[in-house]
Amino acid sequence: MTLTLSPSSAAVATIQAGMRPGLFLTGPAEMEPYGRDWTGDHHGVPLAVARPRSTTELADLMARCTAARLPVVPQGGLTGLVGAATAEPDRRELVVSLERMAAVRSINPIDYTMVVEAGCVLDVAKQAAAAADCLLPITFGAQGSCRIGGNVSTNAGGFNVLRYGMTRDLVLGLEVVLPDGRIWNGLRTLRKDNRGYDLKQLFIGAEGTLGIVTAAALKLFPRPARLEVALLGFRSVPDVMAFYAHARRACSDLLSAFELILRPGLEVALRPPASFPDPLSETYPAYVLIELASSGPVDLRALIEDCLAGSDLVADGTIAASQAQAEKLWLYREMMVEHQGHGGRYYRTDVSVPISRIADFLDVALAGLRAAVPEAQPVAYGHVGDGNLHLNVIPPTGLDPAGIVALFGRAQEVIYPLLDRFEGSISAEHGIGRVKRNAFLQGLDPVSRELAEGLKTMLDPLRILSRGRILPALDPAQPEGAREWY
Ligand code: LAC
Ligand code: ZN
Repeated sequence: MTLTLSPSSAAVATIQAGMRPGLFLTGPAEMEPYGRDWTGDHHGVPLAVARPRSTTELADLMARCTAARLPVVPQGGLTGLVGAATAEPDRRELVVSLERMAAVRSINPIDYTMVVEAGCVLDVAKQAAAAADCLLPITFGAQGSCRIGGNVSTNAGGFNVLRYGMTRDLVLGLEVVLPDGRIWNGLRTLRKDNRGYDLKQLFIGAEGTLGIVTAAALKLFPRPARLEVALLGFRSVPDVMAFYAHARRACSDLLSAFELILRPGLEVALRPPASFPDPLSETYPAYVLIELASSGPVDLRALIEDCLAGSDLVADGTIAASQAQAEKLWLYREMMVEHQGHGGRYYRTDVSVPISRIADFLDVALAGLRAAVPEAQPVAYGHVGDGNLHLNVIPPTGLDPAGIVALFGRAQEVIYPLLDRFEGSISAEHGIGRVKRNAFLQGLDPVSRELAEGLKTMLDPLRILSRGRILPALDPAQPEGAREWY
């Protein structure tokens, strides 16, 4: 099967003529921000950018795009980092930005639910929930930029997954515009609803390949009134893992974050322009940022102190004495992510392995990287309670672009085969997009592939939506796999 599409400015002009003036941006300067992701690694040049204001306007647009066979890529906050939402580089795709559909439609503190439009920035949704004394527990560094539709479409993870689950666990209902312009209204806030197939699951984590999420009904929780944050130093990763097992129980399962940072990652956080001191008086091979949260009158300070006293695994540590100090401790984690890219491109992963195998995996993977890319700096950190590691590689300064791509390839050849050995995943958080598509498809068994292709064909038979993400575009005008993305 091949599916040739017709991306052309003439098709855009025809669609534009029948719709609201101002819906489209077509000038290169005004489209520029929609062409690059947070890292700047993934550049695209949209054919045009549409910014619908309502679900019905988007539905009308999609019906017209289907009629014109115009490829479309939905876009949120551009922080997914796998090339799912940036346009292709050659003016072949209409970008549909959800940024104008950003309302918090409702909050119900008795139901502990909120209904939010796809373009709402995560932080704005979190603040709205907090104003109703509730917690929307999706939490990570990009929350000031990412948008709810993207969180749903990537099944976003983050710092609090060990307590509250992934975004999938927090979605009660969805509203979705299908590629042909039909609106699927599954925007329910019921906790329990066993009527037939759970269709919303199709669109969660689908990276915009099956439909465009326009609104989501999300679970809320009581807002934590008490919080304790500590930064701990460990002599080894096995010590960290043994402490994790102890801490979950010792803290009465009130842990809301357990973030591992190996020493090289902390050193990245300490780099200029930051002027942070080393957090502990000595240096350690591994650090953990631990957070406990409770909404009611639990003495969290006693709990964390008893937890630390009950273990000889922690070499040193500091417990934040105030909210301001807690935020400072979290800044080490955030600055590490910020500073990784300051020297230019770096290789990123978001892998997972069973929690019990994290220490062994890191040991073998880091040894493999030392042998395969000795000139580079591996930086490993992760969400230990979810078995999710970011095992990144920073190339040496001055390496030319071809050298960087070759180095990324060598690093990937170490890490991906190990994930098979450790029964892990090449994507625990950020998704497949275009960056990991070839590796994903290579590892996919034939039955899973058939089911995935069947879903795509049912919902997007012309393959106009997010073409080439997760699955191939099947477009002879755009040869597949011509290059590797990283
Ligand atoms: C993090 C994002 C990059 O863990 O997944 O910081
Ligand atoms: Zn992460």
